[in-house]
Amino acid sequence: MITKQTRVVILTGAGISAESGIRTFRAADGLWEDHRIEEVATPEGWEANPQLVWSFYQQRRRQLLEVESNSGHKALVELEKYLDNFLLVTQNVDNLHERAGSQNLIHMHGELEKLRCQECQHIESMMEEEHLGEEFISCRQCGARLRPHIVWFNEMPLQLPEIEKALTQCDVFIAIGTSGHVYPASGFLHTARLNGSHTIGINLDPPENVYFFDEFFQGKAGEILPHLVQRWTEE
Ligand code: OAD
Repeated sequence: MITKQTRVVILTGAGISAESGIRTFRAADGLWEDHRIEEVATPEGWEANPQLVWSFYQQRRRQLLEVESNSGHKALVELEKYLDNFLLVTQNVDNLHERAGSQNLIHMHGELEKLRCQECQHIESMMEEEHLGEEFISCRQCGARLRPHIVWFNEMPLQLPEIEKALTQCDVFIAIGTSGHVYPASGFLHTARLNGSHTIGINLDPPENVYFFDEFFQGKAGEILPHLVQRWTEE
């Protein structure tokens, strides 16, 4: 069904990194690493308690040094190599897709690796030991406080026009390891469907929008994806 010319857009969520040891968001009663999501993932949370939020993301940033990409991330690299037209959109803020070797990748919810100035918006990748501590870091350009380069609730996801364009042009849309709770990512499936794409879901539990997939594979991405990609890329 998939040939080299098939235009494929993939959306990944926390589930693809679960087998690398990064906890998903909605696993435990709306708590994320024992914090309420609103506390650590909203502009209001940052305003109210910047030290808590900073410390929370610094922990996530340090965790990146201890985890590795898994067979799910790697299978997507093989698929990208095979296809002429491929876009990977991830809601994940970890760097496991790029470390596996993915090239055409959009981090629509930001990146843990990067910090952004809360005043001048300057963005920089900062992953040296000196950037991973508990103290705030100042912007090299204007001296104001840096914040995590993460799209929090009530903030606008990144590169949406580019994503929308790819969704309206793709032949196949595949969502992997995402619960379908968070808009606008959860709506990508509908956009792709409305434009006539074949839609495939891969998830441990049936997500919110499971009924809208043409095909759904239930299980772990790291186990299912290598088989599917091998099948799809067999000449
Ligand atoms: P969720 O935690 O909501 O959902 C993760 C999904 O992955 C669940 O449906 C699990 O069943 C599934 N899952 C778990 N392990 C899996 C595995 N090994 N293989 C396949 N699926 C597995 O995470 P997201 O949908 O990514 O936003 O959450 C979306 C956004 O909500 C996140 O990007 C984050 C959060 O607020 C920001 O940080 C801005």
